[in-house]
Amino acid sequence: MSVDVLLGLQWGDEGKGKIVDVLTPGYDIIARFQGGPNAGHTLEFKGEKYVLRSVPSGIFQGGKINIIGNGVVLDPALFKAEVEALEVSGHDLSKHLYISRKAHLILPTHRLLDLACEAQKGSGKIGTTGKGIGPAYTDKTGRNGLRTGDLDYNFEVKYKEAAARHEILLQQMNCEYDLAALEKEWFEGIDFIRKFPLIDSEHFINNALQNGEKVLAEGAQGTLLDIDFGSYPFVTSSNTVCAGACTGLGISPSKVGKVYGIFKAYCTRVGSGPFPTELFDETGQKMRNLGCEYGSVTGRPRRCGWIDLVALRYAVMINGVTDLIMMKSDVLDSFETVKACVAYNINGVETEDFPFEINDSVKSVYAEFPGWQTGMTKMQSESEFPKEFNAYMSFLEKTLDVNIKIISVGPDREQTIIRYAE
Ligand code: IMP
Ligand code: MG
Repeated sequence: MSVDVLLGLQWGDEGKGKIVDVLTPGYDIIARFQGGPNAGHTLEFKGEKYVLRSVPSGIFQGGKINIIGNGVVLDPALFKAEVEALEVSGHDLSKHLYISRKAHLILPTHRLLDLACEAQKGSGKIGTTGKGIGPAYTDKTGRNGLRTGDLDYNFEVKYKEAAARHEILLQQMNCEYDLAALEKEWFEGIDFIRKFPLIDSEHFINNALQNGEKVLAEGAQGTLLDIDFGSYPFVTSSNTVCAGACTGLGISPSKVGKVYGIFKAYCTRVGSGPFPTELFDETGQKMRNLGCEYGSVTGRPRRCGWIDLVALRYAVMINGVTDLIMMKSDVLDSFETVKACVAYNINGVETEDFPFEINDSVKSVYAEFPGWQTGMTKMQSESEFPKEFNAYMSFLEKTLDVNIKIISVGPDREQTIIRYAE
């Protein structure tokens, strides 16, 4: 059997959590392959709302195995808080959640370093989530990291060495901090992690595939935040693209089946960095209000703008997307006109290719569509779609050269319309 990959095509917050939950009944294993608690995957069903950060979004569909893969960075303290909150709401994860022994740990000093590096950058700051993501991945590639599998091997000594190394850096940056309180919480998290099966997830997943089981790899953040292909340096520190599922889970590219690329009918970004279609006017504010565009991890207002098909086509190419999923089209239900960026004008020259760098000289060229001005949140089949909406959707499919397989018309699990059912 193959591994299907679901990932974001924009700057994150496309609605991956909701769709993983919707697709989970068709899979045996759901696995996160990169990122960490910078993610905030929001799911709504039966009147309840959950925000998942490190836990895969397959835990609510009974009995499925959920795996935190080797490509993920895990903060034990935040993981404990997240799992305990789920337990309070009646979800016991202990039998369904496995953690890779090769997943790297986010140390308390990684969090402090993240904040200190951002402060040092001043107005050039990335606008990170402050969760220690960059420093943890830096230690991983610098071959200084601690993995969950290290818990059984001289762990305290390794921790002390790493923390001491970080403290030298923090002192060089003139940071003031209280490490003791953070460490207490962190070591409680370490004890908590020991309750979960720490597994060699690459063996586990490949054996499962051999036995005919189906795996869904759940991406976090989005393609435009990818460390290699995103709007560098305003990116996260992991490979959010499809290839990241191979390295982040230990599966061969030949095992990848479908690649679900998920995008919003408009576009958002949180944190700093270029965003060619950003709207600073009341239209952007309307998107923010109607789409509740505030960060689920940091609470920051998200920057909003029209859909960017130059960037999306690039994301489709990099990921080899086989099926598109369009989210939050209902947010545009009341708009008179809907726009889509079809090209960039860079110093008078138009291009449809995503450039090396996006700076102030990149101007968006738009196609305009009449809005559908029809409430779509209660629709249950595509036969109900207004013709203006169909025209918008067809244009996107044609431009991106991939079919839109799922349309989400509201936050609830039920507000999902699947086209081309298999
Ligand atoms: P970091 O991943 O915390 O280092 O943040 C780097 C950049 O990625 C910042 O612009 C963040 O706002 C952004 N980012 C990280 N995780 C997410 C996410 O899950 N959704 C949206 N943006 C994110
Ligand atoms: Mg999010």
